[in-house]
Amino acid sequence: KKVVLAYSGGLDTSVILKWLIETYQCEVVAFSADLGQPEPMGDVEQNALRTGAVKAYVEDLKETFVQDYVFPMFRANAIYEGEYLLGTSIARPLIAKRQMEIAQREGADAVSHGATGKGNDQVRFELSYLAIDPQIKIIAPWREWDLDSRTALMAFAQKHGIRVPTTPAKPYSTDGNLLHISYEGGILEDPWQAPTDDMFQLTVSPREAPDTPETIEITFERGNPVALNGEPLSPANMLAALNRLGGKHGIGRVDIVENRFVGMKSRGVYETPGGTILRKAHMAMESITLDREVHHLRDSLVPKYAELIYNGFWFAPERLLLQSMIDDTQQHVAGVVRLQLYKGACTVTGRKSDYSLYSEAHATFEGDVVYSQKDAEGFIRLNALRLRIRKLMQDKQQ
Ligand code: ARG
Ligand code: SIN
Repeated sequence: KKVVLAYSGGLDTSVILKWLIETYQCEVVAFSADLGQPEPMGDVEQNALRTGAVKAYVEDLKETFVQDYVFPMFRANAIYEGEYLLGTSIARPLIAKRQMEIAQREGADAVSHGATGKGNDQVRFELSYLAIDPQIKIIAPWREWDLDSRTALMAFAQKHGIRVPTTPAKPYSTDGNLLHISYEGGILEDPWQAPTDDMFQLTVSPREAPDTPETIEITFERGNPVALNGEPLSPANMLAALNRLGGKHGIGRVDIVENRFVGMKSRGVYETPGGTILRKAHMAMESITLDREVHHLRDSLVPKYAELIYNGFWFAPERLLLQSMIDDTQQHVAGVVRLQLYKGACTVTGRKSDYSLYSEAHATFEGDVVYSQKDAEGFIRLNALRLRIRKLMQDKQQ
């Protein structure tokens, strides 16, 4: 028997690696994806092999992650419950997809992950696995074993000679990639308990941000950011550059209570510096290039699209359907947006496009020749017709 494990190199997945070998007498192939997480991947391969893996794959997936997952999601302005930019949600389907490709190449019969039985991540991993291979066996140790505390994990690690992290455990759990870092659990479980400033890794506090605003320009093509201040950047480099700028100016922190797919509410703190700038800029680009009705119709679908990603349905036909419709609207979302970054705020100060639908001749309050103000009278009277009839009837019925 052979199992491919999504292995991060942390305590949990190290214990899982060993536990799989002990419990299933199987071979374990470790798979680690570099999605730009802040912790250095360092010797994750060595650690996997030392812990007992027969083989370890470590893959740099940063460009794919941003180009094929993050950017499509930002073309839709996706946001969950008005605040969460889905940084963890969007990473899971990519990890699952590569894991399944490796499982196939290795002739493995099962895949395994380190998500708990209480969260969203288990759903995202497993819906993705099953959409790719309906027969795949899935091992979710957190739903099987009785190592239900950090102390129990540490004891298991000690007993089996697994190297445990020497740094003291953080009093919360984090997940990070090029799009964001999330913090939940531990001391954050009390939704009244404010996070401390030393928790944040990507952003300075707005209070500590520079006293002078910084102006940037983002160039878009087909709804994707392609250049920063005129300099073309690859998708991953673009997001990394926006992260540095946002981080420097204290942009992109949110502290929310969200609804998990499995049913409970959960408190999460996120920092998404580059993503926050990108979403703002993209919406400004759309504001001059999208037709009003197309724009409003698309906007009505954003909560649904975001929910699909949050709930793990990236590979579902309804997400693909929405994506193709959204991408269709992005054909002419091209041009330049200017933004000002200052102490936690990101403010649009200009936008221009060769495909602009903004007509100064029509919008101006100065004298014009293209618009007849008289037309508005009939427009308003006909729109008011049913309101007037209703009121007239009500008055008569009294
Ligand atoms: N609550 C967020 C989400 O569901 C973040 C999850 C973080 N995951 C983790 N394994 N720490 O997308
Ligand atoms: C987990 O339960 O593994 C992390 C939290 C989540 O997936 O929502």
